[in-house]
Amino acid sequence: MSSTVVTGIGELVTCDGTGADGLGVQTDAAVVVQDGLVAWLGPQAGAPAADRRLDVGGRAVLPGFVDSHAHLVFAGDRGAEFAARMAGTPYDGGGIGVSVAATRAAGDDELRALLAARVAEMRAQGTTTVEVKSGYGLTVEDEVRALRIARELTAETTFLGAHVVPGEYADDRAAYVDLVTGPMLEAAAPYARWVDVFCEPHSAHAFTADEARAVLTAGRAAGLGLRVHGNQLGPGPGVQLAVELGAASVDHCTFLSTADVDALADAADTTVATLLPGVEFSTRSPYPDAAALLRAGVSIALATDCNPGTCYSSSMPFVIALAVREMGLTPGQAVYAATAGSARSLRRDDVGRLAVGARADLTVLEAPSHVHLSYRAGVPIARALELEA
Ligand code: NIG
Ligand code: FE
Repeated sequence: MSSTVVTGIGELVTCDGTGADGLGVQTDAAVVVQDGLVAWLGPQAGAPAADRRLDVGGRAVLPGFVDSHAHLVFAGDRGAEFAARMAGTPYDGGGIGVSVAATRAAGDDELRALLAARVAEMRAQGTTTVEVKSGYGLTVEDEVRALRIARELTAETTFLGAHVVPGEYADDRAAYVDLVTGPMLEAAAPYARWVDVFCEPHSAHAFTADEARAVLTAGRAAGLGLRVHGNQLGPGPGVQLAVELGAASVDHCTFLSTADVDALADAADTTVATLLPGVEFSTRSPYPDAAALLRAGVSIALATDCNPGTCYSSSMPFVIALAVREMGLTPGQAVYAATAGSARSLRRDDVGRLAVGARADLTVLEAPSHVHLSYRAGVPIARALELEA
């Protein structure tokens, strides 16, 4: 395959862990790409020759964003629920059932097209790796279908049969947990890398700590890595459970106790706290203090949680801007959390950073610096760089 040298990079953000905020910034840089991987990077003056040359005219280049938490396989629309929420109706997870009904009713090709459009929308905003959860099927057949379709577009697929207890099991929760931990898991596991659970005592639809532990331990026994939706609607057991079981990520972390922060700091090598500020925005919830988490030594990530209920935004730049404005991160810390931090939550080191041998997932900004991602909030300045002619 041919090689390409990307030149004219005014600011190259490598996220190699060095320098301010770990961004490893180089100026007047070039990157050589071969076979989809970074073959060389460094000062443009020393760049080796390549078959093709692509000049980005002084723009900033970053590792593509890693969106480590998204629910993209769904049909239907819940705009009215959002409007009601803005008028004061609180979010309680009940609307998930509306998306489950619409998703079950959709054909495979419709779901495939909806997913592809959402992934393309993300790429157009600079996201090059996305995790996709099931969770709007909630039957064996519909969960497998969602994962099979998601697998066509990403390796980061997550079995979320334990999203909510579906209406038909409302009077027998134990039977649904048995289904999720038994036949549904067995059928879903071949199409999934991860298992996840909505552990939330503040929602009647979601799962208790004991139910969540059963789901996660069964998933682990089936060979899946662990992720948890925790501490979203109020203080709760999700963070402690995630740490106890060595989950790769506990997501939301909107309501954290001092003990939760201490547990996350102690587990920083294992469990990442994935923050989803688009959810606080779209549910009018308080934002967690990301700067305090960093000071405590917690590993953090940023993701969209793109879903039809709590955050129908696919935009990592929006998430970065919110994290800076509302969660106390510096622009550099937010970029690191949205790239290397999110990659870590997926236990990946081939994405989220730019180094020889890493994937050549480059995102280019219509701007000279990564600071513009939060400085120019709402302006579409980021896009994945297409290297093929
Ligand atoms: O991450 N909290 C649970 N699941 C999603 C919301 C899903 C929905 O409302 O459709 C979330 O916020
Ligand atoms: Fe989610």
